[in-house]
Amino acid sequence: MIKYLKDFKKSLGLAKDVFFIQGEEKSKEEIRKSGCRTDVINKLLSGFDRPTHYLEVGVRDPRDNFLKIESKTKYSVDPGLEMEENLADFKCTSDEFFEGMNQGQWQNLPAKFDVIFIDGLHTAEQVDRDIANALEVLSEDGFVVLHDCNPPTQWHAREEFGFQRSPAGAHWNGTTWKAFVKWRKNKTLFSFCVDTDWGVGVLSKHSQMGKVLELENEFYEYQLLETRRQEVLNLISFEEFIQQTAI
Ligand SMILES: C[S@@+](CC[C@H](N)C(=O)[O-])C[C@H]1O[C@@H](n2cnc3c(N)ncnc32)[C@H](O)[C@@H]1O
Repeated sequence: MIKYLKDFKKSLGLAKDVFFIQGEEKSKEEIRKSGCRTDVINKLLSGFDRPTHYLEVGVRDPRDNFLKIESKTKYSVDPGLEMEENLADFKCTSDEFFEGMNQGQWQNLPAKFDVIFIDGLHTAEQVDRDIANALEVLSEDGFVVLHDCNPPTQWHAREEFGFQRSPAGAHWNGTTWKAFVKWRKNKTLFSFCVDTDWGVGVLSKHSQMGKVLELENEFYEYQLLETRRQEVLNLISFEEFIQQTAI
């Protein structure tokens, strides 16, 4: 794939295109950042003084994150679109899973989860629904965590995953950021985004970390995210996050 993209860029003279150069640099910069989604989730889980329950929406290969999570119980949901063998506990979409929870269809599941990690279909509409559903089954002092909230360029934030002939190449954060920003405006929640691993967003009903977003971006223009990223996402560095004791 990488060779194909390199040949493609060469054939169109894009290797020298400023957007392609910047896009690649931004991807490399993101990958070099310290910490990752797993560290953020494990730090949040370690703050509970009781055995915890963890749910992951969109798991793909469990070795990448799920198996490294430290929690008393762990459950995963995935329709299995990206792996030959689907290793998720619940082999269905997030909508089907949450509907099943509402209907009391699943046996022996905790009624509430302490951390719910949303990393399934990265479109704003789906993530928005996943957040709303997750909040219904989140413990009062729990956290909703979202991957891919901080796309470094608008190419990374494209709607279509399949289009890889862009300066972001195969990297894709989708439009998750729009759903995160929408919920950052909700006055009943606290939120921040850890600046690592493409942006790890955190929402909480309880932990007073992070102000409500006042800034309006009615049409979710990427440009406004780009110019006021810190404020829009309430971005904090991984090091700052790890030092927090008040979470
Ligand atoms: C980015 S991967 C997940 C990576 C994993 N969470 C990790 O941290 O390594 C996205 C996964 O979401 C799954 N997915 C796609 N649509 C989904 C949906 N509607 N509900 C739940 N999962 C979905 C895909 O099958 C894929 O395995």
